Amino acid sequence: MKIDRFNVRERFVHWLVAISFVYAALSGLAMWSRHLFWIAGVLGGGETVRALHPWGGTIFALVLGVMFSRWASQMKLDAADREWLAKSGRYMVNDEKGMPESGKFNGGQKMLFWVEAAFALLLFLSGAILWFPEITPRVLRLGAVLVHPLAAIGSIGGIIVHIYMSLFAVPGSLKAMTEGYVSARWAKAHHPKWFRQRTKNENESAR
Ligand code: HEM
Repeated sequence: MKIDRFNVRERFVHWLVAISFVYAALSGLAMWSRHLFWIAGVLGGGETVRALHPWGGTIFALVLGVMFSRWASQMKLDAADREWLAKSGRYMVNDEKGMPESGKFNGGQKMLFWVEAAFALLLFLSGAILWFPEITPRVLRLGAVLVHPLAAIGSIGGIIVHIYMSLFAVPGSLKAMTEGYVSARWAKAHHPKWFRQRTKNENESAR
């Protein structure tokens, strides 16, 4: 049995977020350290990267804003999510027994959502200051020089965990974001509360 998880619009927005994030991250890393400047070669050269990085970042911030407005209401942490987070060590070693049952998103996914949104806001504000240095006060520029790379490192770290979880740790997740559905077995194993709600709704509408 197939269970719908993300509609076309959600998947389209997610992949725009992912592509713009990867471009902004790689072009930023290329400019950040001379040891990583080789990445600029892959992306069309130093000047191209310098000119396009702020635009990549702006597109990322805008599409993330769309994703945020679509999902924020579903990402509120409840008591079960907080308990899930306290016991998340077990999840890491694939032992979900005794963990509180997750709804559509588990406590870890919800935390990642808020943490990435906070980093994106910091990146956007500090990035705008660095993009227009001639019109921003010196003290803001000094703050931005510090905040921008720290927020970038934090958000890249978070997304590496996200990619690892979705591609390797929880097999079957990628289908949710490529084809829009998951198997009933996957839903029952990882998001049992959501699975029950979904199947209850379907049974009710079939009656
Ligand atoms: C770059 C490669 C990426 C891959 C391969 C990827 C993969 C996925 C997959 C498979 C899901 C579905 C998980 C599920 O159904 O439970 C998902 C969900 C999600 N993705 Fe991504 N993603 C990527 C980048 C990003 C980026 C850059 C962001 C935001 C900055 C992001 C934010 C989210 C959010 C908020 C969700 C829903 C909650 C969650 O599953 O964590 N993703 N992603």
